[in-house]
Amino acid sequence: MVVHEAKPYNAEPPPGALLGQITPLDTFYGRNHGPIPRMDVASWRLRVDGLVDRPLELSMDELRSRFPERKVVATLQCAGNRRADLMDFRDIPGQVPWGPGTTSTARWSGVSLADVLAEAGLQAEAAHIAFTGSDVSEEPDTPQPFGASIPTVKATSSEVLLAWAMNDQALPTAHGAPLRVVVPGWIGARSVKWLQRITAQAEPTDNYFQTAYSILPPEADPQKAEPGDGITLGPIDLNCAILQPDKDAQLPCGPTEVTGYAFAGDDRTVARVDVSPDGGSTWIQAELDAPENPWTWQHWRATLTPPAGETELIARAWDSIGAVQPESAATVWNPKGYANNSWARLHVTYHPGWTPR
Ligand code: MTE
Repeated sequence: MVVHEAKPYNAEPPPGALLGQITPLDTFYGRNHGPIPRMDVASWRLRVDGLVDRPLELSMDELRSRFPERKVVATLQCAGNRRADLMDFRDIPGQVPWGPGTTSTARWSGVSLADVLAEAGLQAEAAHIAFTGSDVSEEPDTPQPFGASIPTVKATSSEVLLAWAMNDQALPTAHGAPLRVVVPGWIGARSVKWLQRITAQAEPTDNYFQTAYSILPPEADPQKAEPGDGITLGPIDLNCAILQPDKDAQLPCGPTEVTGYAFAGDDRTVARVDVSPDGGSTWIQAELDAPENPWTWQHWRATLTPPAGETELIARAWDSIGAVQPESAATVWNPKGYANNSWARLHVTYHPGWTPR
């Protein structure tokens, strides 16, 4: 893992480790805003309250016995994914320089959030469902637990889980045990770990992290930004990354296999990936895996014959509604460095006369 920070633990796998459809637990990225809390499963209870007819307090055993188990394969992607490319264009002080590795896919098991909310009986005014974690972050001026909310229409969709397992193994503490939210297709920040409370409410949560994950205008000062100054992030943007070859690789001239992932986000799928061997002068279509479901990444591959010397390999994805990624990091740069979904670019050098090993 590439460990960007030890405390709190923030790490991503190197790009070449993400070639499989399911990411092994020891390779799955970790994104934390505070120390990993100590959880005692025996005394832990999930509270469900707010605008509900029947507030609930559920132990792990009750969750397992009262609701049917559901499984969803879903990709989690941090809003800061590929921030490093934005920083190449203009610095973003105080933020983790993430590469393309804060994107990983797991088979999640647990219960459907919709089933738990139905048991609690949502009231008509409950337009948002808020989640509160057990970890306390010191990033806000006054420390507070990590939290988020999503609109009820998403929260009651069948793909949103309260998960206790990942890849058919018990959810690791680092990924939110005993229970975490998984909101497929939405930025990872809405998938709250170490869940302790679900609140049905009329408005989005006022938790610091709900509006912290916003796109601010280019000249805004993030230290002075007020909630509402930015565009609060929810569904993920269409994106892609080149996983192989390595950045700045020195390679023999001749055909090269280029591979990567593309992820459409929300409930869309990737329809096409174009790849260029020469900085965008010419393009070919990559072979693209069929989507397993709308919630997962799709891998792609192409054999390119780049020109001798230094070149830029480029990949760009199109989605099922005909949208394409923006061309440059400059067009999407924002002061906190979120949602960089510009074309994936990789600098490499091809040497004539070298023989492949
Ligand atoms: N939940 C809690 N309680 N605390 C956190 O710091 N980080 C969020 C989200 N849920 C976070 C959290 C962010 S920003 C992301 S991208 C994902 O968890 C990362 O999940 P992972 O560490 O399991 O990969």
